[in-house]
Amino acid sequence: MTVPATSLLLFGATGDLARRMLLPSLFGLASDGLLPEGLKIIGTARSALDSAAFRDLAAKALEQFVEAERRPPATVAAFLARLAYVPLDATKTDGFAALAAEVGDPGRLAIFLSTAPSLFGPTIAGLAGAGLAGDGARLALEKPLGSDLASSRVINDAVAAAYPESRTFRIDHYLGKETVQNLLALRFGNVLFEPLWNAAGIDHVQISVGETVGLEGRADYYDGMGALRDMVQNHMLQLLALVAMEPPARFDPTSVRDEKVKVLRSLRPITAAGVAAHTVRGQYGAGAIAGQPVAGYADELGRASNTETFVAIKAHVDNWRWKGVPFYLRTGKRMPGRLSEIIVQFRAVPHSMFGDAGMAANKLIISIQPEENIGLTMMAKVPGLDRDGLKLRAVPLDIGMQNAFADVRRRIAYERLLLDLIEGQQTLFVRRDEVEAQWTWIDGIRAGWTETTMPARPYAAGNWGPAAAIALTERDGVSWHD
Ligand code: BG6
Repeated sequence: MTVPATSLLLFGATGDLARRMLLPSLFGLASDGLLPEGLKIIGTARSALDSAAFRDLAAKALEQFVEAERRPPATVAAFLARLAYVPLDATKTDGFAALAAEVGDPGRLAIFLSTAPSLFGPTIAGLAGAGLAGDGARLALEKPLGSDLASSRVINDAVAAAYPESRTFRIDHYLGKETVQNLLALRFGNVLFEPLWNAAGIDHVQISVGETVGLEGRADYYDGMGALRDMVQNHMLQLLALVAMEPPARFDPTSVRDEKVKVLRSLRPITAAGVAAHTVRGQYGAGAIAGQPVAGYADELGRASNTETFVAIKAHVDNWRWKGVPFYLRTGKRMPGRLSEIIVQFRAVPHSMFGDAGMAANKLIISIQPEENIGLTMMAKVPGLDRDGLKLRAVPLDIGMQNAFADVRRRIAYERLLLDLIEGQQTLFVRRDEVEAQWTWIDGIRAGWTETTMPARPYAAGNWGPAAAIALTERDGVSWHD
């Protein structure tokens, strides 16, 4: 289904995500003429606003989150004119009629649910009851899609009762990031890497996602989830799947997602017997980030907690291609920097005619944040007359994304995802079987933690997790790329 929507219905329209990301993204698309002509954006939430008040809220969000030079008044006014608002208590079915009336023709409708998961069920029932789930309606859902396999199935069943999979768009905003898509271009648009992209050519893979922020006022949500479920279950496993998948035949929703799900199902279960050797849990204590003192997690929370704010995992993909290749994953809050990157560590040359002479195996560094870049370390000869023997040094062969595409504005991940939703392109959305494979693996780890009462080890804010995270790789003779 690739008919563009004529209405976009935003649930949770007054919330943080809407103000920070969704409205600025829609504005970015509108100002570049990328939204379908006449697309109406209808916000809804519990707050008793009218359309004028919602436009004010949107105008403030744009002032706060879009650079001044990108919002000329006429463009802002044209965008705000698309907006309407209908207040709604999603737990009561009677309000949905007013929403349907505002939508008008429901034949080309995109819906974005950015609400508490407890509202997914009643919202979907209300939408269906009001005739907003017909053939032309697509539904996008923001995480968290449950907190384990069982609860995710409840949500997915409620969705499936009204919207078939072909019209369901599960968001993982990492898939909207430019460099994440670039990983596909790199792997499948170049002949260079594929012959080496396996256990014979690759020693190990590291995926790190570090954040400097702490709880950010999300205590209720975060303390119930922890880093494993907040970050690994979704974003990190999607990155792993893109690194590890077989080449899809086409860049289309079925081909790409079929290959990802095979990887996710091949993840070796980590059970109680393996959690101590393969996982590390951590929780930040007081420390400093960029020279500024910050409080510990329990202080921010106001009570003691065993929730992990850091997790490191040694994972394996049990298939032919990846036999014996560890995938080291780590993510945490209050790390020294905001950094998302994938490191592909190639194997050393089989025989070095130079002796060790500074030899280091090639490394592909895919930086997602803060800057997008792709670099490959190569061995080069250090210039000189080599009277004491020839010396080699690893030098970066850099794609230099910033310079290569200097004239192209980098889009927020949500710009891409919202446009794909509006146009009905599902490739960058997560399919139900993927989500379930992700939860299956994560639930196994959590069961292992519970069974072994594995504690969250302390680390001082501003560090890459507890010392045990270093030991996790050092035991294999591997160092984290810092
Ligand atoms: C969200 C998590 O999914 O991703 C947050 O819930 C996290 O805890 C965020 O901060 C990170 O996203 P990004 O795009 O800033 O790396």
